[in-house]
Amino acid sequence: MKHFLSVVLFGTAVVALVRATGSDGEISFEYHRYEELRKALVSVWLQCPTITRIYTIGESFEGRELLVLEMSDNPGTHEAGEPEFKYIANMHGNEAVGRELLIYLAQYLCNQYQQGNETIIDLIHNTRIHLMPSMNPDGFEKAASQPGEIKDWFVGRSNAQGVDLNRNFPDLDRIIYINEREGGANNHLLQNMKKAVDENTKLAPETKAVIHWIMDIPFVLSANLHGGDVVANYPYDETRTGSTHEYSASPDDVMFKSLARAYSMYNPVMSDPHRPPCRKNDDDSSFKDGITNGGAWYSVPGGMQDFNYLSSNCFEITLELSCDKFPNEDMLKTYWEQNRDSLVNYIEQVHRGVKGFVRDLQGNPISNATVSVEGIDHDITTAKDGDYWRLLAPGNYKVAASAPGYLTVIKKVAVPYSPATRVDFELESLMERKEEEREELMDWWKMMSETLNF
Ligand SMILES: *[C@@H]1O[C@H](CO)[C@@H](O)[C@H](O)[C@H]1NC(C)=O
Ligand SMILES: *[C@@H]1O[C@H](CO)[C@@H](O)[C@H](O)[C@H]1NC(C)=O
Ligand SMILES: [Zn+2]
Repeated sequence: MKHFLSVVLFGTAVVALVRATGSDGEISFEYHRYEELRKALVSVWLQCPTITRIYTIGESFEGRELLVLEMSDNPGTHEAGEPEFKYIANMHGNEAVGRELLIYLAQYLCNQYQQGNETIIDLIHNTRIHLMPSMNPDGFEKAASQPGEIKDWFVGRSNAQGVDLNRNFPDLDRIIYINEREGGANNHLLQNMKKAVDENTKLAPETKAVIHWIMDIPFVLSANLHGGDVVANYPYDETRTGSTHEYSASPDDVMFKSLARAYSMYNPVMSDPHRPPCRKNDDDSSFKDGITNGGAWYSVPGGMQDFNYLSSNCFEITLELSCDKFPNEDMLKTYWEQNRDSLVNYIEQVHRGVKGFVRDLQGNPISNATVSVEGIDHDITTAKDGDYWRLLAPGNYKVAASAPGYLTVIKKVAVPYSPATRVDFELESLMERKEEEREELMDWWKMMSETLNF
């Protein structure tokens, strides 16, 4: 068995090397079952070993690995100042297009990097990209095992325990809606609650693994790839009142719209204003320019998108990529062509807004400092090197950096569409300030006593 696998892997590597000559031509547009998915990722790693790494964030209920392919000039480490990005697909196991698109994306980025494509080289050198083709490998196997080309609309959607993973995240919307009214934290709502997550028996193993992943890596931007419709959906997904359809703006509504458009506008089908609804009776009335607010479409409590925004610094949108959830294999190339530029352009959005470092006067990084923007009730925090990324739409802003024990610094910043404006903060500690004030007071006393002679 082992011997067989290494022969197969060797074969894949050779094929990959032979294929690495064209552009999109060398990608083979087929479905990948669990073992084939592994091999496809290994083959990208063998072809581009200096810029890739394969790791797993945990296991599904049935013990399949939740595999991630990382692409970066320094795989395996967070580099100070470099933003982190993720794509997650196939959370609903029967929504298969995103899973395949992420495999093709990995192959494309590796090929283009090797061919010297400047856009892709810049992207990989300045971004740490994580691709998870399947968050629900058990569901996919179940869906893919159905005989014939037409797959049931629901079989394989849930994980092997029957849990819908996109309803299984802690419902932080309910907390934020209370905090909005009554005061309270506007970010990182699950702070210091990792243990409670681990002990919560209602959370599926796939959900727990992803929660840890979200909370451990300083992700800035992300998208969750689904199927069954064609639209880019942005927060909030859960409505404030609990009604089924209601526009539910987050504090970053302007930026989220811009991010969703950055995906839809490069996809000719998604952005087509005359595209008929996927099914005759579908209510698409909230779709505009290929984007929609989640709550305006239909309310989703316990989803992963809002969880990212409310538990971490990560802005996530949800992409619906195809009317069919599990289309015929011969359609996969078409879906790749519709989505390729969107997938790349969306990653580039991570380089917008304001970014920089928060340090003390001696130049030491201040981690977990708060970066807030006047008029936007959603703060973000610095990572371990004091580095931060604050996604913002174009405009003029007042940005403040603060940390307990330090004096807050506020700066005025003009933000273009891109790239991100670099703004560093140096915070004076209150201890230092007290020391300074004491010295000033002493000097004043000395001066006074000398003048007045007492
Ligand atoms: C380089 O990559 C970008 C982004 O995917 C793409 O638009 C462009 O066509 C590529 N250039 C070449 C020469 O293939
Ligand atoms: C980060 O800061 C917040 C508030 O300033 C605090 O509640 C939290 O415990 C801190 N987290 C860590 C990991 O230090
Ligand atoms: Zn879905």
